[in-house]
Amino acid sequence: MDRIRIRGGRPLIGTIPISGAKNAALPLMATTLLTDQPLTLTNMPRLVDIATMATLLAQHGVDVHRNDHPNGKAGFGGEMRLTTANITSTTAPYELVRRMRASVLVLGPLLARCGRARVSLPGGCAIGTRPVDLHIGGLRQMGASIDLVGGYIEAEAPKGLSGATIVFPMVSVGATENLLMAATLARGDTELVNAAREPEVVDLARCLQAMGADIEGIGTDRLRIRGRDRLGGARHAIVSDRIEAGTYAMAAAITGGRIELLDTRLELILAVAKILTNAGVEFTETATGVVVSRANGALIGVDVMTEPFPGFPTDLQAQMMAVMCTAQGAAMITETIFENRFMHVPELMRMGANITVHQASALVRGVGRLTGAPVMATDLRASVSLVLAGLVAEGTTELNRVYHLDRGYDRLEEKLAACGASVERIKAEG
Ligand code: UD1
Repeated sequence: MDRIRIRGGRPLIGTIPISGAKNAALPLMATTLLTDQPLTLTNMPRLVDIATMATLLAQHGVDVHRNDHPNGKAGFGGEMRLTTANITSTTAPYELVRRMRASVLVLGPLLARCGRARVSLPGGCAIGTRPVDLHIGGLRQMGASIDLVGGYIEAEAPKGLSGATIVFPMVSVGATENLLMAATLARGDTELVNAAREPEVVDLARCLQAMGADIEGIGTDRLRIRGRDRLGGARHAIVSDRIEAGTYAMAAAITGGRIELLDTRLELILAVAKILTNAGVEFTETATGVVVSRANGALIGVDVMTEPFPGFPTDLQAQMMAVMCTAQGAAMITETIFENRFMHVPELMRMGANITVHQASALVRGVGRLTGAPVMATDLRASVSLVLAGLVAEGTTELNRVYHLDRGYDRLEEKLAACGASVERIKAEG
């Protein structure tokens, strides 16, 4: 398995192009199942999760054609053309779903178009149990009969889905997306109440509109969808990845550098910018992106609580904790979305951090310095938090299990190295 070696201590200065959002691209790819017309997605990030989704769709019968920028340099998003003339299989097998939970996003579209779907239950994952009861409950309300058999969700709606009012007891990005997609082809009107408002949900709704869906309330927590008989094709540019942007903003913050994040907008990372501004970091919006700098002064400890959008994203919690490790004073970091999302804590402590976890909160007391160490993590965002810590640590940090990073960060080493970081990938032998 590849490793990443980081020699810490250099302030990062330069520009980083932000890729299209992984979490927008995955549901957008699944929308191809709703139409027999071609769907072209641009600003596609180059990630393992995207390849996994492409493999899953191909086995449903989707023709996937990928056209990356010829020089393959960071910042030039590729194009993907997806055409689903016929769905040849309505089963999403365990083999693929267990690799990536977002595979469950094919459930709603398959059921809406074919009247049946058999999708493996994703099971637990490193950051918690993560059930899919809201996806299943919503589809049942839309008239599907669903059984759980042999680890699979077996869903049927032979006469099609019908519109319903679905009130989510908690905000779920994935359930909102699955039901939104399903509702576009349902008979009658669907209302999703307490829906997720994440920019990736907005991006999905906009693409569905371009395909001919009738959706109102986009960007609010109440989506109203009038079902259509069919949807058409579209060409859609994927929204920029706010989690990637936030991660590199934190790279500027932790190293005391200055990074211009290209092709993104401040409004996508507003909650993060507010918190980091209180911690002593500056954000300036430009015509092409956002400049993040901490040229003068120390970082100051600030409290953070994760929340659904527009609050502080759980996907930036681990990175924020790394930043707080060397801040002056203390920071209380509270995780409200996932129950087991502090796996980075023991690894950060091995690098010299002072952190105490009590239930859903971590108290981080700033230390003067971190020191490099061999580290590893069991999920994507935890892994990148260790990269951030490595950028400021004295000495060498070696991160194992790099495949987590490859799932969600498009050319991470290239982007960091362009700003002066000493980061290299050590290829596995054999
Ligand atoms: C998406 C993101 C992930 C992000 C998360 C929260 C993608 C591909 N992934 O994941 O990066 O961390 O949103 O912003 O977009 N829940 C239930 N029952 C359900 C569904 C969810 O109890 O049926 C719970 C989850 O366990 C979790 C909370 O709801 O505690 C939020 O999860 P959800 O928003 O659904 O996350 P995902 O869509 O899986």
